[in-house]
Amino acid sequence: MLIRAIEEADRIVVGRLVLELWGAHTAVAHGEVFFPASLPGFLVEQQDQVVGLLTYAAADGRLEIVTIDALRRGRGVGSSLVEAAVHRARQLGCSRVRLTTTNDNLDALRFYQRRGFRLAALRPDAVREARRLKPEIPSVGDYGIPMTDELDLERWVGPR
Ligand SMILES: CC(C)(COP(=O)(O)OP(=O)(O)OC[C@H]1O[C@@H](n2cnc3c(N)ncnc32)[C@H](O)[C@@H]1OP(=O)(O)O)[C@@H](O)C(=O)NCCC(=O)NCCS
Repeated sequence: MLIRAIEEADRIVVGRLVLELWGAHTAVAHGEVFFPASLPGFLVEQQDQVVGLLTYAAADGRLEIVTIDALRRGRGVGSSLVEAAVHRARQLGCSRVRLTTTNDNLDALRFYQRRGFRLAALRPDAVREARRLKPEIPSVGDYGIPMTDELDLERWVGPR
């Protein structure tokens, strides 16, 4: 398994993956619209196949994970992407890594908390607002749970 930074030559592949995995070219979190295919990030490859993708935006001492996807789950792809993001955050002088998920994403909530992230904010009904910006967001998410609320998780990565 090889993990590497996204390069300009990867943009078309990344754009196609984002559309396939996220149902649109955009991602919405805390009222902000992102275009993941134009962001920096990391790809995980195995035998010339992309098996993982993470995109991020860094600002104000914080690295925000905008998208993270393991195309093959439970094999360490997601963990290696998180560790790459943490490493990059430190290189950029960021003290925190943040991400936003939705109330239905129980697998992600478990995954992040097992990797040092703490719950930082709950925005009840924020997905209703996000749907105005991205109508492709489904009304029902994982496990048949109505997708309604946003949750932020944060991991401190600065000097202790
Ligand atoms: C969340 C997500 C990125 C996690 O990725 P993943 O590659 O499945 O994660 P990992 O394989 O690193 O870890 C998952 C579990 O598999 C285990 N695992 C890791 N490598 C393994 C291996 N080689 N063999 C067996 N199990 C393994 C890990 O220990 C982990 O369990 P733990 O949490 O109890 O420690 C993935 O579920 C995903 O793509 N979800 C859909 C998109 C999404 O919801 N993204 C988040 C939006 S905020």
